[in-house]
Amino acid sequence: MNNWNPSSWRDFPIKQQPTYKDLEKLKKVEKELSSYPPLIFAEEARKLKAQLADVSKGNAFLLQGGDCAESFDAFNANNIKDLFKVMMQMAVVLTFSGGCPVVKVGRVAGQFAKPRSSDYEEVNGIALPSYRGDIINNVSFNEKDRTPKAKRLLKAYNQSASTLNLLRAFARGGMADLQQVHAWNLDFVKDNALGEKYDQLANKISETMKFMEACGITGDNTAQLKETILYTSHEALLLNYEEALTRQDSLSGNWYDCSAHMLWIGDRTRDLDGAHIEYFKGINNPIGCKVGPSMKEDELIKLIDALNPENEAGRLNLIVRMGHNKVADIFPNLLKRVENEGKKIVWSCDPMHGNVEKASNGYKTRDFANILSEVKQFFQIHKAQGSVAGGIHLEMTGQNVTECTGSTSAAITADGLSSRYHTQCDPRLNADQSLELAFMIADTLKEARS
Ligand code: PEP
Ligand code: CO
Repeated sequence: MNNWNPSSWRDFPIKQQPTYKDLEKLKKVEKELSSYPPLIFAEEARKLKAQLADVSKGNAFLLQGGDCAESFDAFNANNIKDLFKVMMQMAVVLTFSGGCPVVKVGRVAGQFAKPRSSDYEEVNGIALPSYRGDIINNVSFNEKDRTPKAKRLLKAYNQSASTLNLLRAFARGGMADLQQVHAWNLDFVKDNALGEKYDQLANKISETMKFMEACGITGDNTAQLKETILYTSHEALLLNYEEALTRQDSLSGNWYDCSAHMLWIGDRTRDLDGAHIEYFKGINNPIGCKVGPSMKEDELIKLIDALNPENEAGRLNLIVRMGHNKVADIFPNLLKRVENEGKKIVWSCDPMHGNVEKASNGYKTRDFANILSEVKQFFQIHKAQGSVAGGIHLEMTGQNVTECTGSTSAAITADGLSSRYHTQCDPRLNADQSLELAFMIADTLKEARS
């Protein structure tokens, strides 16, 4: 790693990047950003790494979720609060029913840059640059909005800083108090069967809390009962932004990407000789890498060796996203090879990105049954091999959106997608669907780990 520095990625081929017209302006923005305070502290990233090491051993479960792409327009306190609440609900379901501590990581406070299948989008014969996320350009289809603007990096930083500030306040300031377990139920979930199922669980927790209180264990003497940690993560796609927030930790002397606790590499930018792998080699955060259906066994081993040469537990999260109809064919051999070579991996399942489909009315959607099916198969494959299914990676929101079809409680049909379809990019699970999935995973966890 002698030649590594935060900008050494610039000497390598890079994919999925915008073309900025004003390079002087870009340089100025990068310089300004590099003078701003870090968003996280290296010690927090080390703590997350230790918790992920527990996940890799089967002693905890990783819950990672949030928007496909955060947006400047949808930035408000309610959206942040509702994501926090639904993650707390899912975590409590997994902890209480699944009997497993949960490491919570949001796709939030920096999840702005998106890889796209094409550089250009054509509408009625006009071709414009594709939308690449709010940190790069605007989704509206006109030339001005689609032109990448460097100053958007600063806006993304500021939005991330205030999002993180509110999340930290919720985590430490009372919103995570287990006494609030009933209050996490969102209004639109409350009245259906799922909301009732959750309420029953919340009642049990409240009873347990009363019992513990009688024994002298309260939030006042046991911080875990009233506080939590919600870590942040995003795809480190726009390396200009990540480089500017890469800082040398004063305690250890090591480099950390201080834009988030955890960063991951997307399925389209994980080329072994590419810029993204180069950048990730030098940062000491816990990191993820998506593993899609095109991954080959030897390639995966090389990737693991490049990203985690010391085979450190908790460093590397492989996020498997094959699709419900491919995972059983492709994943078992990859898993067997990696396990046989003794690699320490946090295996998680992204049941979203291999299951995208176009509804007959043109909406990009995902069917809940396919999502459930991929998760179940992921657990079964691990069970059959005796390895650890460590976590789940979801695109989800606390809002009552209609973006994914199916589920028993919400029952969204293709025709119903248009009613509250708000995503700027991929379709997300709404709070109902997220909670239903959590209950299913809790059952599976209990069974798999019994
Ligand atoms: C994503 O997580 O939003 C994404 C683009 O995923 P992938 O790289 O797996 O396609
Ligand atoms: Co996505």
